[in-house]
Amino acid sequence: MPVSQAASSNTPLTREAMEAFWLPMTPNRQFKSKPRLFVGAEGMHYVAQDGQRILDGMAGLWCVNAGHGQRRIVDAIQTQAAKLDFVSSFQMSHPAAFELAGRIAQIAPSGLDHVFFTNSGSESVDTALKIARGYHRARGEASRIRFISRAKAYHGMGWGGLSVSGIVRHRRDFGPLLPEVDHLSHTHNPEQMAFSRGQPSWGAHLADELEKLLAIHDPSTVAAVIVEPVTGSGGVFPPPVGYLERLREICDRNGILLIFDEVITGFGRVGAAFAANAFGVTPDLITCAKGMTNAAVPMGGVIVSGKVYDALMAGPENTIELFHGYTYSAHPLACAAALAALDVYQDLALFEQARRIAPLWEAAAHALKDAPHIIDIRNIGLLAAIDLRPRDGAPGARGAECASRCYDDGFLIRASGDTLLLSPPLIIEEEQIAALFAAIRRALAAVG
Ligand SMILES: Cc1ncc(COP(=O)(O)O)c(C=O)c1O
Repeated sequence: MPVSQAASSNTPLTREAMEAFWLPMTPNRQFKSKPRLFVGAEGMHYVAQDGQRILDGMAGLWCVNAGHGQRRIVDAIQTQAAKLDFVSSFQMSHPAAFELAGRIAQIAPSGLDHVFFTNSGSESVDTALKIARGYHRARGEASRIRFISRAKAYHGMGWGGLSVSGIVRHRRDFGPLLPEVDHLSHTHNPEQMAFSRGQPSWGAHLADELEKLLAIHDPSTVAAVIVEPVTGSGGVFPPPVGYLERLREICDRNGILLIFDEVITGFGRVGAAFAANAFGVTPDLITCAKGMTNAAVPMGGVIVSGKVYDALMAGPENTIELFHGYTYSAHPLACAAALAALDVYQDLALFEQARRIAPLWEAAAHALKDAPHIIDIRNIGLLAAIDLRPRDGAPGARGAECASRCYDDGFLIRASGDTLLLSPPLIIEEEQIAALFAAIRRALAAVG
């Protein structure tokens, strides 16, 4: 059967038909011998090729915050595609791009009032790092080129994001990265905070490591500190109480920009538009993507303070202020999807809904404490992570088997090594939360 026919039908793909697609971040050979293919999605559920309905415990990949197939978003994309399929934003643009930037600035913390559009979280991070260096140079501090990030951080797959990444397996195989980078310790210390609910009370002092790094490098060489306010892919580590405040204070005292990477936490994940709103700490730049369009069209952005934007709006008015941008920055389809997604978030009050249901989510997650193999459980907003004791001699096997059993049982969760990660659409209901954690309990009881 030709590949095109196979792809459009519900007939399982042959190995040959799967050969050409090199899947990202996937063990390709294993996947192709036991593929997991979806052909539909609606609300909280995926529909697998074999017809099984799978409850989406990951909002796709931390991104479908309003649930799948939101009619308003679908309609907006279809209408836009028929009306204006594409216009570049290099020296031209379209009205929806301006409207969207304004709407995002409205829900961002006050003072963050300009948006640079990208197409992904990775592009947002690389863009933010470039803006940070550009900002200092524009102000006559070209020596500020260094970035400080954190162990266990995930900042995407671009060279900049990889350079500030704190996950060794992501960095290891690719040769020299940006040399001017240093890392803070991560904030997870199970001895002090295992099974803490929400923000751990221990650990604010870890932000003081920034002072030590500044003493080594000299503040005049540092452009920005970049952190995920809640470490996401690295294992869901909510910030210790007071930690982000302290980072903010040290950055302010030393003329350093603070970047929050909110690619996961943006658009409601922790019960507010951004984690910055939820924690009451305002960075100079926010990177975002994922939930921006409810993942229906790729889009990302960097939300920038007036201070940063104004510093770069210098020089003759006929010169480009920042030599940076992407063909698809502010793509009309993405803007239409994002505007509709913001309408859905607002009309269904989904950020408030996430905040309302978070205590129930927390209770359900922590009720697993007595299940087999569990060594830690963490949660914040509608995020949770469950650490399993690794099986002797086979690290990661228990996590993978547990996620696989959940899938066979009709529940999509994610395993990163022996950590189970959960991030459902914000529309998840009480019974679905109960069913999801019951499935995890069954899987834990079944894996050796
Ligand atoms: C915090 C963070 N930054 C950046 C990225 C990269 O985003 P993308 O995969 O859209 O490039 C991710 C992706 O999960 C992320 O979690």
